[in-house]
Amino acid sequence: MTNQTTPPSWLDAALEFCVAKTRHNLSTLVNFPERTEGGQWVQIPPEQHGWWVGGHWVGLLWLAYAASGDPAFETAARDWGKRLLPQLNENADHDLGFLFELGFILGNRLTGDESLKSPALQAAAILSRRFNARGQFIQAWGALDSSPELRGRTIMDTMMNLDLLFWARNETGNPRYAEIAAAHARTTLAHHLRTDGSTSHTCDFDPETGLFIRQGTHQGMSATSCWSRGQAWGVYGFADCYRATGDPVFLNASRRLMVYLWPRLPADLVPFWDYDSPLIPNDVRDSSAASVLASGLLSLAAVENDPNLASIWQNRAISILESLWKSYTSRDTGEASLLIHGTRSKPHNLMDHGLIYGDYYFLEALLRLAKPKLAIS
Ligand code: GLY
Repeated sequence: MTNQTTPPSWLDAALEFCVAKTRHNLSTLVNFPERTEGGQWVQIPPEQHGWWVGGHWVGLLWLAYAASGDPAFETAARDWGKRLLPQLNENADHDLGFLFELGFILGNRLTGDESLKSPALQAAAILSRRFNARGQFIQAWGALDSSPELRGRTIMDTMMNLDLLFWARNETGNPRYAEIAAAHARTTLAHHLRTDGSTSHTCDFDPETGLFIRQGTHQGMSATSCWSRGQAWGVYGFADCYRATGDPVFLNASRRLMVYLWPRLPADLVPFWDYDSPLIPNDVRDSSAASVLASGLLSLAAVENDPNLASIWQNRAISILESLWKSYTSRDTGEASLLIHGTRSKPHNLMDHGLIYGDYYFLEALLRLAKPKLAIS
């Protein structure tokens, strides 16, 4: 149910800025970028093969190709994508979705090249083996024989990795992939989501019995607080689940997360790192939470079955993007990232910097607006 709206006046300038800066970054980066320090990219050691964010850099290159038509970006996306392949092993964690949906499926959608599907199918098979049938969840971190603590942990972020499984169901015809993805989403709904529509970052389960133990956090303020990027992953991820399954519980989940967060955003619509920080308004923002939210809202608007809500989601996404473009891009600062004022993890003292995933979802959202028919997801 896509809205027909006039593209915002600033959209072309924002796209040109993203493409130009990505071109510049491509000419300077040796290894995968993760966050900025002192305005420059901190690059991931090559032996980590892009860690969990390598797909965002490859995806950004694919999007720059889609925005500009410049084949140099396509060549670069293919070259950098190959560097992700060593992550196709049984020790990989749940981030296989981020890595291989953005690194390969996106490339397949944009170019039609069937050979890009094979690594993503391998990734989906590995990800599906992280499913704990007793608890009906996908183990987020650690090897399959790691500590009970790791074997029993779920995180909001996994909502973004389910689309890989839905895609694999469509490609292979094997319903098991979609069953696992939907089961994990229902478990997230039952245990991460609180009655007020906020979410916990983590949950712990007994990996042997599958019984829920407690809510917790890793990057948020506390077990009872709402980490803003986790909430944004949820809005986006539940919209993906609704698109893939048609099950209204997932549409309602995405809406409920919005009901919680929208009144808690500051005037410029870029969230503080945790909605419950007592330091607000004197605390750090997370521009990546804003860009994830904006792109997730455009995705939600496209599947929303209530036309009034669809235009609300679309208009809110545009307002967030306008704020990011006008006040949170590096166009006046010269930093290497597209967006500034992101927060990887305040509890780990990593804040107020650029983040490659913030950049990816910013350009993804701009392209959803500029080219609504483009096959991004
Ligand atoms: N998925 C890790 C993060 O959002 O920081």
